Amino acid sequence: MTPAPVLSVRDASQVFGADVRALRAVTLDVRHGETLVLIGESGSGKTTLLRLLNGLQTPTSGDVCLHGASIRAQDPIEIRRRIGYVQQDAGLLPHWTVADNVGLVPWLLGWEPARRAGRVDALLDLMNLDPRRFRTRYPVELSGGQQQRVAFARALAADPDIILLDEPFGALDAMTRHALQQQFLGLKQRLTQTMVMVTHDLDEALRLGDRIAVLKEGRLLQIGRPDELLRTPAHDDVAHLLRYRAEGRRP
Ligand SMILES: Nc1ncnc2c1ncn2[C@@H]1O[C@H](COP(=O)(O)OP(=O)(O)OP(=O)(O)O)[C@@H](O)[C@H]1O
Ligand SMILES: [Mg+2]
Repeated sequence: MTPAPVLSVRDASQVFGADVRALRAVTLDVRHGETLVLIGESGSGKTTLLRLLNGLQTPTSGDVCLHGASIRAQDPIEIRRRIGYVQQDAGLLPHWTVADNVGLVPWLLGWEPARRAGRVDALLDLMNLDPRRFRTRYPVELSGGQQQRVAFARALAADPDIILLDEPFGALDAMTRHALQQQFLGLKQRLTQTMVMVTHDLDEALRLGDRIAVLKEGRLLQIGRPDELLRTPAHDDVAHLLRYRAEGRRP
């Protein structure tokens, strides 16, 4: 029997202003423990869909449910505890130290300072950032890859069941990107979280995703395992995206 979905998006549309249709009747489930990758060109609605999943954005129509209950009805701080979020471009608070950034959600939850500090150090260790060197630095004093790792640590801080990652390796050079992808794969084996990750890099999607959802102009074209998409693309655009892969070229 398939377990109940952790998150389910039902017929969700998002309209901005008079005429920007960022999402059009998207329906999908996020399954317990999986890494679901959202892929699509710039402007296809990936970030908007991710923001619906943690209630930062309320759909114009349709609904999003967390463990079966509409996300609209839930307490925003409780959602932050249960769903970690790594924003596009890390999104660290510039005037806060690394320790304060990583400890943000525990602070919101009112954890004692000593418990917060212990958690911050453990997470920096997990991300291969020596706490003694990094704890007191500010985001501007970090490389892009280090900022992304701090953002990932922040998303894990209150041990959420779900982590949303918006192009976590997007702005990095190829070497750093590859190193962080490897680190992510290692972490995935140690963590039990359900993950939803945005990318526009097909290789990354195929390497990291248990399932892939392909978006175009706000529509969900197909969702399935990488081999399903490769074998039976449901749409010309999916076939086109994957043909490059089969031919060993990049789109
Ligand atoms: N707050 C907003 N107000 C108006 N339009 C918006 C807003 N947020 C997003 N959009 C528009 O909605 C569409 C989808 O945007 P979204 O950020 O979800 O795309 P994306 O797939 O994440 O793109 P990228 O790969 O460039 O990050 C785009 O046309 C964008 O301009
Ligand atoms: Mg985006």
